[in-house]
Amino acid sequence: MNNTPPWATEALWKKVAVWVTALSFVLLVVLTFDSMAKTAAGGSRVPAYSVVNKQIDYRYDQAAQRYKPVIGGEQPLFGKALDEATAEQQVSLGKKTVQGKNCINCHTILGNGAYYAPDLTKSWLDPAWISETEREKRMLAFLLDPEKNHVGYGSTRRMPNQHLTEAEARGVIAFLKWMSSIDTNGFPHNFKTITAEQ
Ligand code: HEC
Repeated sequence: MNNTPPWATEALWKKVAVWVTALSFVLLVVLTFDSMAKTAAGGSRVPAYSVVNKQIDYRYDQAAQRYKPVIGGEQPLFGKALDEATAEQQVSLGKKTVQGKNCINCHTILGNGAYYAPDLTKSWLDPAWISETEREKRMLAFLLDPEKNHVGYGSTRRMPNQHLTEAEARGVIAFLKWMSSIDTNGFPHNFKTITAEQ
């Protein structure tokens, strides 16, 4: 005689296990595509690479209760508008340079890295570059010779020369500009931008 109540039968729990596994699998597939759509360049949170041709600002959004990037009018990098393919090439060169030189040994980028040196996620918008018109020139000078062109406020730390070529440094600037346009849910927190005091 089998007195096992229906909710305790092996057959029922096998079915439950199969269904939970199958539904979790479907959910993971859906979430994977959803994340990919959001994190791909040209998606809802990560602008296309040609955003390097635009003015980028970072403003408090009352409804969302956090800072959000705001893409403005034309403001081409080094005064030269790039088509989508060239913009991607520049951003990609910058990203590979940052990876190759292991900048995250000291810096943080999109939540990855160290806090020995400033978070670079919104560095493009950092008031350290003094003004929007001076910015590219100052960034380039700094990246090519950070010891001579120190920018940190009251920081006693100095960035050692990373021996970038000028092409690599320009790529890094494109990468930093593009990255500053990414909606990072308000990270890094409490960031004051270059346009805040203007
Ligand atoms: C050994 C540590 C170290 C490494 C490696 C390093 N940096 Fe830095 N970096 C610093 C320090 C310290 C500062 C702050 C000093 C200053 O502003 O003069 C800084 C500042 C900066 C700034 C200015 C940040 C801002 O918004 O004020 C940028 C941009 C930057 N680094 C880019 C890079 C890039 C790109 C690389 C890799 C090619 C790199 N760094 C590698 C230590 C490092």
